[in-house]
Amino acid sequence: MDRVGQGICAGRRALVTGAARGIGAAIARELAARGAAVALLDRDDGSESCHALLAEELLAAGGTAVAVAADVASFEGAARAVRETVARLGGLDILVNNAGINRDGVLWKMAEVQWDEVLDVNLKGAFNCIRHAAPHLKAHGWGRIVNVASINGLRGKFGQANYSASKAGLIGLTKAAAREFGRFQVTVNAVAPGLIETAMTAAMPEEARRRSLEEVVLGRIGQPEDIAAVVAFLCSEGARHITGEVIRVDGGQAM
Ligand code: NAI
Repeated sequence: MDRVGQGICAGRRALVTGAARGIGAAIARELAARGAAVALLDRDDGSESCHALLAEELLAAGGTAVAVAADVASFEGAARAVRETVARLGGLDILVNNAGINRDGVLWKMAEVQWDEVLDVNLKGAFNCIRHAAPHLKAHGWGRIVNVASINGLRGKFGQANYSASKAGLIGLTKAAAREFGRFQVTVNAVAPGLIETAMTAAMPEEARRRSLEEVVLGRIGQPEDIAAVVAFLCSEGARHITGEVIRVDGGQAM
């Protein structure tokens, strides 16, 4: 179905981090389908990189899309990415902090680098992007920030102390930011996905994946599009009175 016509994000300019694949790619597609101009941020800057190809696909479908190369963990890198987005799209109304990594291991075996990398991307990366996007989001009395957290930030997961801490931190950041941005009519919310079929979960040991799936009340593995639909709603006008909220999108997994 062609939904460009619905255009519930028409005229909005969005920056989606980690947009080369998985959940971020689905979010970029969904926002573009709803009429937003989208900047797809990911680490790789080759012209054959996945987010560059996806930007071309969205352009060919009649949308407005640009690929931006940056590492969100870098304060300066995030600043450059926001500057480039604003220059190429003419402004910024929507920021989706989706880029995330995991480096799993039990705490008593966890190396310092495993802790630092995950916190740097998942938590500091969101701070970096919000920090640099803030002047643009505040500028004209309408804005949206959506952070992609995880149910493991709500309940903690064995073998993921670093990841769980980063996502719990992201939820705290979401709520504090919601209070600070509220007066500018910029809403700040989080989605907390459960098990979703992407490259990240394809790398899980089969047994861990089976146990996770057993928890899902709906008995199915979530798809990136399941998350994208909720993110797009949070970016729409219909969600204007929702802020500081964390929405589980997990088929009942962490209920
Ligand atoms: P993925 O690994 O398939 O895709 C992540 C994307 O982020 C990749 O394109 C990667 O290059 C990019 N990225 C990673 N570090 C980056 C950095 N420093 N700067 C810029 N881009 C960077 O992961 P997936 O599954 O699509 O996850 C997306 C988000 O959803 C992550 O924040 C993840 O923690 C979260 N999530 C995923 C779940 C799942 O079951 N797949 C469950 C709960 C949350």
